[in-house]
Amino acid sequence: MSDSAPAREAWGSRIGLILAMAGNAVGLGNFLRFPKQAVENGGGTFMIPYFIAFLLVGIPLMWIEWGVGRHGGLRGHGSVPGMFQSLWKNPIAKYLGVLGLFMPMVVLIYYCYIESWTLAWTWASLRGATQGLDQAGMQAFFKSYVDLDNGTVHGFWTPFAFFFITILINFYVVSKGLTKGIERLAKIGMPILFIFAAILVVRVLTLGASEVIIDGVATQSSPIDGLNFMYTPNWSLLASPKVWLAATGQIFFTLSVGMGSLQAYASYLTKKDDIALSGIATAATNETAEVVLGGSLAIPAIVAFFGVAGATAIAKGGSFDLGFIAMPLVFNQLPGGAMMSTIAGVMWFGLLFLAGITSSVAMATPALSFVEENFGWTRKKTAIGLGVIALLIGILHLVYYTQGFLEEWDYWAGTFGLVVLALIETVLFVWVFGPDNMWREIHEGASIRIPRFFKFVMTFVTPVFLLVMMIWWTVQEAVPTLLMANVPEADHGVRWASRGVMLAILLIQLWLIKAAWRRRVLDGKEVT
Ligand code: ALA
Repeated sequence: MSDSAPAREAWGSRIGLILAMAGNAVGLGNFLRFPKQAVENGGGTFMIPYFIAFLLVGIPLMWIEWGVGRHGGLRGHGSVPGMFQSLWKNPIAKYLGVLGLFMPMVVLIYYCYIESWTLAWTWASLRGATQGLDQAGMQAFFKSYVDLDNGTVHGFWTPFAFFFITILINFYVVSKGLTKGIERLAKIGMPILFIFAAILVVRVLTLGASEVIIDGVATQSSPIDGLNFMYTPNWSLLASPKVWLAATGQIFFTLSVGMGSLQAYASYLTKKDDIALSGIATAATNETAEVVLGGSLAIPAIVAFFGVAGATAIAKGGSFDLGFIAMPLVFNQLPGGAMMSTIAGVMWFGLLFLAGITSSVAMATPALSFVEENFGWTRKKTAIGLGVIALLIGILHLVYYTQGFLEEWDYWAGTFGLVVLALIETVLFVWVFGPDNMWREIHEGASIRIPRFFKFVMTFVTPVFLLVMMIWWTVQEAVPTLLMANVPEADHGVRWASRGVMLAILLIQLWLIKAAWRRRVLDGKEVT
């Protein structure tokens, strides 16, 4: 196997790299998934396993993925199959790496669909379409959008139009390349996102108390009650496996670890680039966006107007009710009338769109690099090809959303699969490649020395933690999910079809890896 490769594109600047990596991590997960998970799993109680998982798997995996990515990139590989192959010379390694193509592709498709809602709601806020709606009206607005058979509010073509625009923007950005596309988007998008979020946080936290009715009794609730809920643990709930799984799952999703996209970005690093400090800076930026901003937005705002019990009921009601139903309701009640509602709505959904797109372009990168590098397609041609595929497959999500088509993908690829890939790559990078090699690789070009404590954590604690979580996950959730324990009988057909499409994507990608390696051998890039 060849250990040197022609020079690849490189990041334009360190700040550009960090913003792009942070953009990769900061996404819908920070502002939509985190508040829902936190509220649903007991607020302060959730935060304990959340921080433990951040320390023991989140930070280590960040370094591991940067290391795996750069190591592979220096050998001409921009996606996980080749990266694994360069770590472990066994022919099976590249096939294990299929997960690093599969996960980002599958998540990208359904993620872009949700991202397209944020665009639709930004537009709706701008037009004042959600103003004056009460809770039932807001729910009808949401339901009509996601259910194509329910044309009470939106025209049949509206969701298609926004999805098409979202895919178009995403693939336009990636077609422009690393520095002119992805890096530029991050340099513009990330500061705007942080400014919008900071303004909204100040507005939310300076709201006074309002009267909420809980069980027929009028009581006062304020944003501070939301913060108290977020940071006061209920120790007795800590023994629940559900809380641990939810917290670990959130760490994976929010940091984009186990996905394949961080490795793809890291593949553009050079030997002189720092990983140690930049990796931790990216993780810290993501946590600031998630805990400080994400945690101070939806939860306090919704608690202020609905109370803790109301917010919990909304979070349990549906995955997106907090962000797309409750938040616009809050905006309608802000002092300042229609103007304030419009401004807050545009800022909230606009920041969600920016958070989303800076992550989705990262998810598009592994497949793009794979095709470009192995089949010799130009970036533009690859971007058009993948964009069309994402668009066509994505339509299935639009059509079958209400029957749980997306839920299947979010579970198998966006939750369970992340842990599987993370476990495999940790074993390969730490154990097969070797703990000393791993440590050396991460410190190549480093601006800081990582405390040695982390070498121990990465070598022993992270793999064991991942293994235990995976087994626990399989028993607690994956088996009942596989058997569709809580799925209405009528939806089983769509759920199986949803799994079938995922399986087809996986098999096609495995076949493409085989074809790619055949070409690489013929081209003399590989000896086996
Ligand atoms: N890390 C990305 C997010 O949080 C995928 O949305």
